[in-house]
Amino acid sequence: MTVNYSKVGIIGAGAMGRGIAQIAAQAGSDVLLLDSFEGAAERGRDALLAQWQKLHEKGRLDEATCDALGARIRPVTSMQDLAQCDLVIEAVVENLEVKRELFKALEAIVAPTATLATNTSSLSVTAIAAVMANPRRMAGFHFFNPVPLMKVVEVIAGFKTDPGVCERLADYARQMGHSAVQANDTPGFIVNHAGRGFGTEALRIVGEGVTDFATIDRILKDQAGFRLGPFELMDLTALDVSHPVMESIYRQYYDEPRFRPSVITAQRLAAGALGRKTGEGFYRYVDGAMQVPPEPPVPTIDLLPPVWVSPRAARRAELLRIVHALGAQIETGAAPSPAALTVVAPLGFDVTTVAAVERLDATRTVGIDMMIDDAATKRRVVATNPATRRDMRDAAHALFARDGKAVSVIRDSGGFVTQRVVGTIVNIAADMCQQRVCSPADLETAVKLGLGYPQGPLAMGNLYGPTNMLEVLFNLQTVYGDPRYRPSPWLRRRGALGLSLLHEEE
Ligand code: NAI
Repeated sequence: MTVNYSKVGIIGAGAMGRGIAQIAAQAGSDVLLLDSFEGAAERGRDALLAQWQKLHEKGRLDEATCDALGARIRPVTSMQDLAQCDLVIEAVVENLEVKRELFKALEAIVAPTATLATNTSSLSVTAIAAVMANPRRMAGFHFFNPVPLMKVVEVIAGFKTDPGVCERLADYARQMGHSAVQANDTPGFIVNHAGRGFGTEALRIVGEGVTDFATIDRILKDQAGFRLGPFELMDLTALDVSHPVMESIYRQYYDEPRFRPSVITAQRLAAGALGRKTGEGFYRYVDGAMQVPPEPPVPTIDLLPPVWVSPRAARRAELLRIVHALGAQIETGAAPSPAALTVVAPLGFDVTTVAAVERLDATRTVGIDMMIDDAATKRRVVATNPATRRDMRDAAHALFARDGKAVSVIRDSGGFVTQRVVGTIVNIAADMCQQRVCSPADLETAVKLGLGYPQGPLAMGNLYGPTNMLEVLFNLQTVYGDPRYRPSPWLRRRGALGLSLLHEEE
């Protein structure tokens, strides 16, 4: 196989530049590494040699390949040394003026046919390329950290980028063993745009005092299958990185309410509680180990009250089967008896509203999240309302934990935790499709590989039901009167028609 670019220049030999150099050499390109900080390019090369040597010692790379790879990396000292490159990728500091100056100088040095690319994660490719004499040959080529392990790259077309340049870069990405996704030049591109729902909605739930962050992490991992909860993830990324990204995307979209950041992270950032790297974030870290607060114990109760389930509960038949299997006596009357624990299961609405609308005794009413098939989750989530009696709350907690399944009891909130967070993720993804930031297929690939979600957001929406997603969002919008829950027209159309979210474009 002949590689698309035989001589690749990389400017900036930091974390990203080194990673890109590694996979470019592994694809068969000769790589020239340039850094303005003296000795940094050599250090970058040495780190790569050590990396390959380690792979060789582990038996994953033979000696000849190891030597050949090492010979492909050459540190250089001046931009003039990049004159023969057919591709130059920039990975220097994230600063618009620095990048603009760099590309203006670079295009006068390389051949007119050479391709130029920026690894920027948050600046506009169009704005960087605007100072160039020929912006058509310049594109975004956005890798993720650590580059060799994060197997996806966003290829971004600026306003004037030649589509052929993007195709060739995407093809090269595949030669490097990465999946390429094509994005329009919009704030956050694909991954950092699609990733807005998870953290911001979780922060909003904590901000409302619905429950604590450790409970939210448990719920989202156990109910929806996320590998890390949003607060664990923010601790890992560190708030000095993630809070500015939240602010930047919000501002770049002219204060779009769906991306509104939280004062919680602003304050924690000011306090220096950045996450794992400072030993304290949402969790504490002792010798690198995360300290997770213990779960509240399941209460012991003397006698289970009879249970009455609202006729309007989501997945009512399944809920009745669960309650029956847990050994509770089920009431079948039109209204609950004065002794009954009253269970509702709303989508999007809060328990308080449901109790009021259905004329139930709020003191005995709790809600349970039934959006997801109980058999497919490892945790049940029960919500009280402000009037719920303690004995009824404890009875519900004990009942739903009877088969050993984990139970979280939270305060009342429209949409529980999973409905809110998943609904927000799906809605943002739907709106990205509406805006044609990228194709639905590329959106799915980018999110799975770039964010590590269990499914792409559209597949997630399908799994829980496009109609359910729409109902959750409509009702959240009613409960909160907040435009951040306004369903995207793209989701509205598909939800209303009962179509798959991965249905062919109209
Ligand atoms: P880094 O700070 O590790 O490395 C940047 C390197 O560029 C340093 O070695 C510095 O000496 C050098 N440099 C600065 N100005 C230069 C110039 N004018 N000419 C030549 N060399 C120069 O930064 P990192 O993390 O590698 O990021 C680089 C770029 O990649 C940024 O644009 C960043 O936004 C982007 N990016 C970073 C990701 C990350 O997770 N770290 C992920 C995706 C993109």
